[in-house]
Amino acid sequence: MNQIAKMHINSDTAVYGSLVFTCEKLIRHAILHPNRFKYLVQRCQNVITIIGSGKVGGDAALFSALRKLDREILLLDVVKGLPQGEAMDLNHMLSEQGIDVDIRGSNDYADMKGSDVVVVVAGSGRKPGMTRMDLLKINAGIVKDVVENIRKFAGGSTIVPVTNPLDPMVHITYKTSGFDRNRVVGMGNMLDLSRFVQFIHEATGYSRDSIRALVIGEHGENMLPLPRFSTVAGVPLSAVLSKQRLDQLVQETRQVAAKVIELKGATVHAPGNAISSILEAILKDKKRVIPVATPLDGEYGQSNVSIGVPAVIGRGGVEKIIELDLDQHEKEWFHRGIDSVKSALAGL
Ligand code: 2OP
Repeated sequence: MNQIAKMHINSDTAVYGSLVFTCEKLIRHAILHPNRFKYLVQRCQNVITIIGSGKVGGDAALFSALRKLDREILLLDVVKGLPQGEAMDLNHMLSEQGIDVDIRGSNDYADMKGSDVVVVVAGSGRKPGMTRMDLLKINAGIVKDVVENIRKFAGGSTIVPVTNPLDPMVHITYKTSGFDRNRVVGMGNMLDLSRFVQFIHEATGYSRDSIRALVIGEHGENMLPLPRFSTVAGVPLSAVLSKQRLDQLVQETRQVAAKVIELKGATVHAPGNAISSILEAILKDKKRVIPVATPLDGEYGQSNVSIGVPAVIGRGGVEKIIELDLDQHEKEWFHRGIDSVKSALAGL
């Protein structure tokens, strides 16, 4: 058996017989002995590509670099100079921090060859007064075009769609890519969840760190924050806050993105961070349970649609969808989301 066949690799370690190498160790070793462990070193060098180098794409690169998720991050954009300038600015920051993640900027899709994960942020952003669905027609064409390029140049990658309206874009990504559905991991509810946590923190005064909250369903008008599945240090929210207050927090979670957009023109840091959390779960094979938008195939009694559901996220993308036992009221909101996504897809 040759050296490679005997080795087991994941994103952080390589196991050779009884020896465990961290990727960091391997790469140091490779500098001293350039011809040994070449294959393993390559496997340790994941590449994250982020398509769309505006504020959210730039912040996703920033948080991913600070979390040291990868050796290299590629920023791609059709706007000449934008990804290159963003990459330079980020590299200058990383140099002062002493972090060896290299960020590159490019206008050429071919440069994403070999990427492990491709994030799609490209498309028009939501402006004050708009709903996410208002972006459907314009962004559907952009996302299709981008995904065709991913299929061509990064056919082995996992795609993380972010462009709005998120759930229909996830489904378009799935259909256009032809990828297995586990390799389409949409970022929407992860962001909603961070907002729900913030509202619970404000209402209770308890540390954000003790709060475990869940939001599923459409990343849109019908999103479904789930107080019944949320806790403060294991204590159900219903024991901490009144029903009336919880209903208020649910409503505020649904509406708060529009408020941020009205005040500062766009949401940036929270989505950038939520993207990097999903990337971390994938690249570090965390098996973290996170709500993500993914195509359903019978789960929750639904097919031919993509929407946010809790799932186990690891190196295999969506490794398992978790089916919650929703009550009547929760089911109603979940189905409103399904109807909204299905009618958006039917209207294209
Ligand atoms: C957000 O929720 C606009 O979908 C984006 O921040």
